[in-house]
Amino acid sequence: MILGVETSCDDTCAAVVARDGAVRSNVVASQGLLHARYGGVVPEIASRRHLELVDAVVADALERAGASLDDIDTVAVTRGPGLIGALLVGLSSAKAIATARKLPLVPVDHLAGHVLASTLGEHPIEPPFLALVASGGHTFLARVDEPPEYDVLGQTLDDAAGEAFDKGARLLGLGYPGGAALDRLARDGDPEAFDFPRSRPGRGLDFSFSGLKTALLYRIRDLGPDETEHRRADLAAAYQSAVVGALIARLGQALEQERPPRLAIGGGVAANSGLRARVEELAAERGVEVWIPPHELCTDNAAMIAAVARFDDPIPYPGYLSLDAFARAA
Ligand code: KG4
Ligand code: ZN
Repeated sequence: MILGVETSCDDTCAAVVARDGAVRSNVVASQGLLHARYGGVVPEIASRRHLELVDAVVADALERAGASLDDIDTVAVTRGPGLIGALLVGLSSAKAIATARKLPLVPVDHLAGHVLASTLGEHPIEPPFLALVASGGHTFLARVDEPPEYDVLGQTLDDAAGEAFDKGARLLGLGYPGGAALDRLARDGDPEAFDFPRSRPGRGLDFSFSGLKTALLYRIRDLGPDETEHRRADLAAAYQSAVVGALIARLGQALEQERPPRLAIGGGVAANSGLRARVEELAAERGVEVWIPPHELCTDNAAMIAAVARFDDPIPYPGYLSLDAFARAA
């Protein structure tokens, strides 16, 4: 079995995954509340908290899997992209665990984790497939032929979709990170109540979300505080529909262009109820099989990191001791 460790942002995560992709445990210690009062993740606080939590989270993942380190043959860990201090905590722990047992280690690209989340579970997706990844830091379309490699077909030119959700949520007074809260509020609103700029089909497969956030800001200003308060659910529903619409428009174009037999979504925004429903509809319309992972495999987690390691060659002990983390993808 593979032990996965993920500490790229503000969640301390460890998981145990079997070679066939079965998830034996998937533990996430969220630091959300710790950062909420600052309205965003404070990198130094995140690193220190990871340091306090990581041993306990790994122990918990092993216990929940009914396993011990004797059952682990490979350690997988996120190497980047992410917050450098946060990444270093996970990477150092993973190196220490692997070294103590002279186990091999696989350094993993966090984004490959989101792309390959659907290769986990009882009915894993088979390549080739198209993946839409939308998270707090990244939004892109990728083609997967031979995992863990993937080809990026298009990506956001400004904000990530999760960032668009978080900024919209903040404007509506929903706190941070507000994607899930906006999703809940939107259920009581009318998505047609307001018009937000629609993304027009272009030739490329890139995304842009910064205009939407500005449109919401102006709409809230025009309405004034009382009317905004009164119509929050409608604003949330219309805004969500616009963000999801932009994702679906490019996804539709990518399906047309690539004609893949299968489609998967991943990243925290893949937990959005509106997106999940529209992806199902689109896939049915186009006759493409679709994989929509459970919420816990969409948002940051270590099972998806272990999933990537199933497809990669591990580095034998002690070759990985000098590995460094990286904040940004090369
Ligand atoms: O993948 P993730 O957990 O972390 C990153 O790698 O960024 O994604 C977090 C993002 C946040 O922006 C959060 O607001 C958003 O995913 N998110 C959602 C929902 N759940 C999480 N956005 C919209 N609807 C949701 N239900
Ligand atoms: Zn992520």
